[in-house]
Parts: sequence; C-alpha cells; structure tokens
Amino acid sequence: MAYKGLIDKYSSLLDLPAHTRPVSLLEGNTPLIPVDRLSQQLGEGFELLVKFEGLNPTGSFKDRGMTTAISEALGRGSKTVICASTGNTAASAAAYASRAGLKSIVLIPQGKVATGKLSGAIVYGAQVIQIDGSFDDALTMVVEISEKYPICLVNSINPYRIEGQKTGAFEICDTLDHAPDWLCLPVGNAGNITAYWAGFKQYDALYATGRPQILGVQAAGSAPLVLGHPVENPETVATAIRIGKPARGDEALETALESNGRIIAVSDDEILTMQKMLAQLEGLWVEPASAAGLAGLAHEISAGKFSLKGQRIVAICTGHGLKDPDIITNAMVKPQIIAAKLEALESVIQSSL
Ligand code: F0G
Repeated sequence: MAYKGLIDKYSSLLDLPAHTRPVSLLEGNTPLIPVDRLSQQLGEGFELLVKFEGLNPTGSFKDRGMTTAISEALGRGSKTVICASTGNTAASAAAYASRAGLKSIVLIPQGKVATGKLSGAIVYGAQVIQIDGSFDDALTMVVEISEKYPICLVNSINPYRIEGQKTGAFEICDTLDHAPDWLCLPVGNAGNITAYWAGFKQYDALYATGRPQILGVQAAGSAPLVLGHPVENPETVATAIRIGKPARGDEALETALESNGRIIAVSDDEILTMQKMLAQLEGLWVEPASAAGLAGLAHEISAGKFSLKGQRIVAICTGHGLKDPDIITNAMVKPQIIAAKLEALESVIQSSL
C-alpha cells in the first residue's frame, strides 16, 4: 500500500482531535542504519544503529511533529501559525504551513541560525523575524503573542507536536520488533526526548515491546538540565540546541529517571569530532547538534560508565548536515588547485595510492 505519511500510518495511536485535517509531506519512515565501523571504534560487543532523521522532507525530525500540529491547526480553522526556533522548527513549520495554505511567522535568534535552516524558512514563505535575544526570549514572546491573538503556536509546548514525534519510537520498534536497550539523543527544548519516551511507553503497553534506557545529551555551554538551573547566555557550536530554559525540561528529567537513564553534557569538541567520525567512517553527514547523542555515548564509554556487552543501542541523528554547511567550510583547508594536465594529477594522487 502506498505510504501516505505518519498520520495515516499511525492514526489509531495518535491522540488528535476529530477536526484534524491531515497535511503531509510523506514525512517519517526514515532508515535505521547500522554503523558497524563507528561502533568498532567506540568499543566491543554491542550493536549500534542510527535513525537518520535528516532524511525527512525538510531535513530534520521536526516534520514528524509538524504534520500533526499543522493538521490540527488547519482543522481548527487557524489562519496563521507561529514559532520560536533555532532553525529547524522554523523551516518545518513554514513548509507545512505553506502546504496547508496557512501563513507562518517564525522568530529566530539573530545571527545564530544555520544557513540551510534560514534559507528553508525563507523559501517556504515564512515571515522571518530575527530578535536581538536568545531562543528562550523568542519562545517567551511567541507564547504571549499566541495568547493574545488568534495565532496557533507550533512549538513543542503544543501537545500535537509530541503526538507526531512519538512516531519515531513506533518506527524503531516496528523495525527491530522490540525497543533497543538504550536510546541516545540530543536535548534542546526537550520535546523530542519527551515524545520518544511517551512513544516507547505507549508501544510497550500495547505490544510488550519493552522500553529503552534514555541517554539525553546537552552541549556543555547550554546544559541547564545537567547544571540544575537555567543558563542565561547559552553558547555552543551546535546552534540547534543552544537553549538555556527548556520548555519541557521537567519531562526530560523525569524521562531520565523513569527510564533508568541519564542526561549528560558534552563539549563542542566532542560534538564536532563525532560529526566527523560519522561522516568519515559511515558516510553519514549530520548537523552538529545531531551528533550530540552519539558524542554522549562515546563520552560515557570512554569514562567507563557504560557496559556495552550485548547491548543494542539506537542513536537519533536529528538533522541533516546540509543544514549547516558553514561549520564545515569555515574550518576547511581550501582544496588544492592544480593545472588541467594529467601529469599534475598523477603527481598529486601518487602519494595516496
Ligand atoms: N537536534 C536538532 C537538529 C534540533 O533542531 C533540535 C531542536 C534538537 C536536536 C533538540 O530537540 O528541542 O526537542 O530537545 N531544535 C528546535 C528548533 C529547538 O527550533 O528547531 P528538542
């Protein structure tokens, strides 16, 4: 049967109002890719798989929650949607709003949104507003505006975002026939960790698929859940998770506790090292924030805090590397230029043969 998107596939498992009018870009259905060369670098005796969410229609996992949030907004009669964003939510909201015939307004922190995300929001037709402040400031503003005007908020505070994002957990259980032992993922505003946990619990209650332990990973310069207090001026190269006051922070902490997992922080260096390892060992290019879950796993393994034997571990890689090409090109050594002559080519490649 033809694939018609997440609402169609999992309709009976998603708590959506009757007025919902499905708007889909055939999101979801992303591959769970074994990464054996990477796992061998990290340790022995375990299985590691990457759920590559960068293959969603707008290049990030946000499309899972946006199909549901926009479908509900459309059915309810909303004409305009709004969100605060570090970039991916903005691009996804803009795309789904356009497909639904709605207007979208996105607030982003000035100068801190990667090129692929900003250009997405613009090409999909959003009204893009930069604020002289952080994501957290932007979120406070959109919450207030949506209470004052008939504008639908599509940040992950919106419960229908969580409903859609639960499908990531469903897909993993469908593919493996069981939940993995561990799930590693980056944590920013904490919607995704909340949704995965809800999804695994729901599937376990229905089909006895088990529940993973959850490893949530923040960037060290933006780690309010690890520090135990909000971070006023969060900083990290992983701009997607540059968030100091996660809206669903309490749920993330509860998830760590209930799943017998934990939330940890990793440095920007660890994130960029993992981004490079994934690309150069496995051919998977993910944006920096998306490498954080695996960087956290590597961190715990090297600190001797992880018993790997016989474990099946899934890492969620949340967004595509093409979202943030500048992080690569700004740091690269410019490729060598040679004369358009065979001898010149021979002389430069001989050393690599
Ligand atoms: N990875 C990527 C690529 C993201 O864009 C985000 C969040 C996260 C991880 C963290 O997910 O917030 O549910 O804990 N991006 C949001 C945005 C904040 O505006 O695009 P979370």
